[in-house]
Amino acid sequence: MNVLLKAFQESIRNRLEKEGFHLVLESAYPTIYANESRVLQAFENLMSNAFKYGRSASGENRVKIGSRENEEEYLFSVTDNGQGIPREYHEKIFGLFYRLDNDMNGSGVGLSVVRKVMQFHGGRVWVESEPGKGATFWLAFPKSHVG
Ligand SMILES: Nc1ncnc2c1ncn2[C@@H]1O[C@H](COP(=O)(O)OP(=O)(O)OP(=O)(O)O)[C@@H](O)[C@H]1O
Ligand SMILES: [Mg+2]
Repeated sequence: MNVLLKAFQESIRNRLEKEGFHLVLESAYPTIYANESRVLQAFENLMSNAFKYGRSASGENRVKIGSRENEEEYLFSVTDNGQGIPREYHEKIFGLFYRLDNDMNGSGVGLSVVRKVMQFHGGRVWVESEPGKGATFWLAFPKSHVG
C-alpha cells in the first residue's frame, strides 16, 4: 500500500493543486493481498468525493489516508474536513444512485463501487461522520482472505 498510495498521490498531483487540497499520507502502510486496480478504484472514488464534499468551511482542505490493524483486519481510513454526513444517511449513501447533495455533479455510483470492491475482498466499508465535522471512510481488509 506504500507503493500504491504514493503512486496515487502522484497521479492526482495536478488536481490536488488546482482544487487547493492537501493529501496527507502516512510514512508507512501495511502490505496487503488485494486486487490492485480495484483497491485503486476505491481510493479514487473516495478522493473524488473528498474533492466534491470535503471542502472545508474554514481554512485548509485536507484529506488524510491513515491505517491501522487489528487481529483480523488491515484498516485504511480516508478523512476529510468537509460538510460531513448526518447519521441517518451513513448506510444509505452506499446504495446505488443514492445522493444527498444536488449542488454537485454525480450519479450516486461511487460509494456503491467502493462497497462492491470491499465485498470482493471479503471486507467491509463504513463511514464515521457528523455534520460540520468532516467524514472518515473506513476500508477493512480481512487478513485471512484468500483469492
Ligand atoms: N466525503 C463526503 N462528505 C460528505 N458527503 C459525502 C461524502 N462522500 C459522499 N457523500 C454523499 O454521499 C452521496 C453518495 O456518494 P457517491 O460517491 O456514491 O455518489 P456521487 O459522488 O454523488 O456520484 P458519483 O460518485 O457517481 O460521481 C453523495 O452524493 C454525497 O451526498
Ligand atoms: Mg462519488
